[in-house]
Amino acid sequence: LILPVIMAGGAGTRLWPLSRTHFPKQFLSLTSENTLFQDTLSRIDQDNYADPLIVCNNDHRFLVAEQLRQQALSHSGIILEPAARNTAPAIALAALKAIQDNPDAILLILAADHYIDDIAKFNNTVNSALPLVEKGKMVTFGVCPTAPETGYGYIKSGEPVEDAFSVASFVEKPVRSIAESYLAAGGYYWNSGIFLFKASQYIAELEKYCPEVLSACQNALQNSHQDLDFIRLDSNEFEKSPDISIDYAVMERTTDAVVMPLDVKWNDVGSWSALWEIGDKDSSGNVVRGDVLLENTQNCYINAGSKLVTTVGLKDIIVVETRDAVLVADKQQVQQVKLIVNRLQQEG
Ligand code: GDD
Ligand code: MG
Repeated sequence: LILPVIMAGGAGTRLWPLSRTHFPKQFLSLTSENTLFQDTLSRIDQDNYADPLIVCNNDHRFLVAEQLRQQALSHSGIILEPAARNTAPAIALAALKAIQDNPDAILLILAADHYIDDIAKFNNTVNSALPLVEKGKMVTFGVCPTAPETGYGYIKSGEPVEDAFSVASFVEKPVRSIAESYLAAGGYYWNSGIFLFKASQYIAELEKYCPEVLSACQNALQNSHQDLDFIRLDSNEFEKSPDISIDYAVMERTTDAVVMPLDVKWNDVGSWSALWEIGDKDSSGNVVRGDVLLENTQNCYINAGSKLVTTVGLKDIIVVETRDAVLVADKQQVQQVKLIVNRLQQEG
């Protein structure tokens, strides 16, 4: 039985001003009625998989519990991180917890911030990767790139391995010129950030490449205690873990990675332009939410939260209005929203 693990501890700063420290993007409804976290839960093939294990920040425990309750979904536990240390330790916690119950556990690692259009195809693709995992492969799911995005990992595919390919190279978040050269060359996939592997194998790889992460997580879990659904870690021990993602810690280095092509419309909802891309557009190419009135406006994303928002003569612009803050941005430069967030944090 596959154990789904939902990583829900990210900050989502590029979706400010809707995404906030105490209410990050995965807990917002941005692409459907449900939140991104809830969409992730409902994507899981419940008949064939175990109840999901959730790893999130301690500050968001009530958001997680409430959003699970709304979906009336059962789960296998909620691990609370006392500090954000990125995905390598988050997955280590899940892997260590999983092998306590089942030494042969297979983990399906899911990010809580993804949009996927064809869920049946997604589940079929995951199931078709299972034989590879049983043979000791660490499967990443690769999406065909459509633009030189710098927020993704890039996987160069090697020779075929059953339905997948060996990983000739894995480069996490290359600079733009490199991403452009990958697109021009062809044969590259975006790393979707969805992984399938044996829990025991992830632990073995971590021991090889990043033992500090493993030991911090082992100690944090050893001294943890269960509080209703919540698994509370020893914070002193957990905080000793380096802050590193699975991509840098393991996937760039392991020799057992294979990439399984995932042929769905996929997006990590990382920025406002991503929401424009996946949104339903009016006849002028605008995506709108809330109370808005547009005149001679094209290819814009306009999100009104508390007031009527009107625009005249705009093109390729993002406007996001909330009760206490408004963002107006060039659609090409939305990655820089995080600079605003940094300044707000520094300047108080
Ligand atoms: N529990 C926990 N703890 N979850 C975390 C933490 C953490 O400290 N940090 C991030 N996450 C969660 C996020 O909420 C998200 O669901 C997932 O882990 C991935 O983290 P991101 O911070 O969104 O990563 P990214 O988008 O920059 O990059 C990763 O995903 C891309 C695709 O979406 C990488 O795997 C890239 O290679 C990949 O292309
Ligand atoms: Mg992401």
